[in-house]
Amino acid sequence: MRLETGLLTFALPSLAATGGIQTKITAFEEKCLQFRPEGSVRNSTRTELQFVKAGGRVALSDNDPSCNTDSQAVTADMCRVALSISTSNRSSITYEMWLPEDWSGRFLATGNGGIGGCVAYENLAYGTAHGFATVGTNNGHNGTNGDTFYQNEGIVADFGWRSLHTSVEVGKKLTALFYGAAASKSYYIGCSLGGRQGIHAAELFPGDFDGIVAGAPAVDFNNLYSWRARYFTITGAADAPSFITADTWRTTIHYEILKQCDGIDGATDGIIEDPTLCKFQPETLLCGARKEPGDCLTDAQVQTVTKVFSNYLWSNGSLLYPAMQPGSEMAAAGGLYNGKSYGPSVGWFKFAVLEDPPWDPASFTTDDALVAGRKDPGGIRTWPSSLAAFEGRGGKVLTYHGQQDQQITSFNSIRFYEHLAGGMGYAPERMDRFYRFFRIPGMGHCGSGPGAWAVAVVDWVEKGMAPEALVGTKFVNDTVDAGIAYQHTHCKYPAKSTFKGGERNPREVGSWECI
Ligand SMILES: *[C@@H]1O[C@H](CO)[C@@H](O)[C@H](O)[C@H]1NC(C)=O
Ligand SMILES: *[C@@H]1O[C@H](CO)[C@@H](O)[C@H](O)[C@H]1NC(C)=O
Ligand SMILES: *[C@@H]1O[C@H](CO)[C@@H](O)[C@H](O)[C@H]1NC(C)=O
Ligand SMILES: *[C@@H]1O[C@H](CO)[C@@H](O)[C@H](O)[C@H]1NC(C)=O
Ligand SMILES: *[C@@H]1O[C@H](CO)[C@@H](O)[C@H](O)[C@H]1NC(C)=O
Repeated sequence: MRLETGLLTFALPSLAATGGIQTKITAFEEKCLQFRPEGSVRNSTRTELQFVKAGGRVALSDNDPSCNTDSQAVTADMCRVALSISTSNRSSITYEMWLPEDWSGRFLATGNGGIGGCVAYENLAYGTAHGFATVGTNNGHNGTNGDTFYQNEGIVADFGWRSLHTSVEVGKKLTALFYGAAASKSYYIGCSLGGRQGIHAAELFPGDFDGIVAGAPAVDFNNLYSWRARYFTITGAADAPSFITADTWRTTIHYEILKQCDGIDGATDGIIEDPTLCKFQPETLLCGARKEPGDCLTDAQVQTVTKVFSNYLWSNGSLLYPAMQPGSEMAAAGGLYNGKSYGPSVGWFKFAVLEDPPWDPASFTTDDALVAGRKDPGGIRTWPSSLAAFEGRGGKVLTYHGQQDQQITSFNSIRFYEHLAGGMGYAPERMDRFYRFFRIPGMGHCGSGPGAWAVAVVDWVEKGMAPEALVGTKFVNDTVDAGIAYQHTHCKYPAKSTFKGGERNPREVGSWECI
């Protein structure tokens, strides 16, 4: 029987949560409403100050419609502060700080996604629910399309690095001011672009954080955006001979990928444990004597599949960005392979790289990729060959990548690990002291939520309990209340989760080991 290859979610253990006492709430509410952060932050204007009770919702009526959120549920009593902070004469950030009454003494900064300008309100809520004084920003602009990058270096610099760093400097200062004590430890959590922001912070501002959770990091950012832009030129539009429908990706191609690769790990369970071992041969699907029309691929379509699963190369043959990993096609069919230009790449190239708003994404070539790499808007690339200063201060990085990521190939996180380890001259055992990378079979792009990671990085930083392996939980119908479908051990790179074989049930945690 085939398993659903949906996302794996994690149980959310709580760090610390004690109930508030009625009289304390009043005092806290008063303290909140008397807070005047703008007096302590240069060039800032206060836009929000409110006390929010557990069980309430924060209304976000000003939030850009493309951010798709007009309110956020809150599960802890907290004080919400928002500032507008100018960062240059033509740029400013929207800064949100949520201060829980039951403060654990810790500080947490959150990141963003895509090329967006959307505050990660759900992570602010997660942070305050677990006792962190938590900050987030709009990364220097509102909405998701990036048009304000156009001829505005201030906004591009905010997006590249300045917004997050500013929020940390301001956030630590205001934490001390509000609670009367400095934060004991400083953490960061983000995925995708947010993962990149975490790695970049470790490189540029090694003192900003003690612990960083960097999920599916969008490192080597310019080349990632070129890789994404290229999909439209591979698939063509929906009427092109090279185009493949979502249905064909999800049935014909996905089944053949599983047929060729699911059993490599010893367990035919619908999940490719290690996609690096899957050398998919799409030629077996070529229409011919054996194949029914509708269940086979034309020559042009076979070429599309071959390109999708091949490394992306510069014209001189060296690597631009690694191949998409097989196994992600169920989700990628409706995304990168959908026969439309990829919105965030279009915005990045039009407004930040080429500064050419009428640019036609169908014309994309490696020449554009070259411009992106040379220009490196806002210094965004993020490809450090050392994080020695961060490590030297005792900093820890916990990174993970879903092995069915349909937005950023997980092969790039392996490539980055090897690049960093090589640059620092570290063997994996040495890397383990400060940088641990977990591959999560069966998980799509940023599909896990912050829970397990935040707990693991806090334990590592504060108790020296470094995560060895993480147990992921797949809930029935991806619904926690519906109960556990199965659990799986996720191994620390370079180890991989290996089926012990025999009559064991691949859905049992004990049937696998990290080797
Ligand atoms: C972003 O939106 C906020 C309202 O949510 C507004 O105050 C701010 O000026 C906007 N920023 C930019 C750069 O347009
Ligand atoms: C901040 O305000 C000062 C004046 O108070 C001004 O000189 C400076 O340019 C401003 N900085 C930014 C980043 O806007
Ligand atoms: C904004 O600052 C830049 C340099 O930081 C300067 O060249 C420009 O004249 C300033 N623009 C305005 C409107 O003050
Ligand atoms: C190939 O071209 C890319 C892009 O111009 C360049 O970065 C790379 O160094 C080149 N590789 C070799 C081996 O010359
Ligand atoms: C899971 O969802 C399906 C369809 O949404 C439903 O038919 C089924 O009963 C659900 N299973 C459980 C255990 O909730």
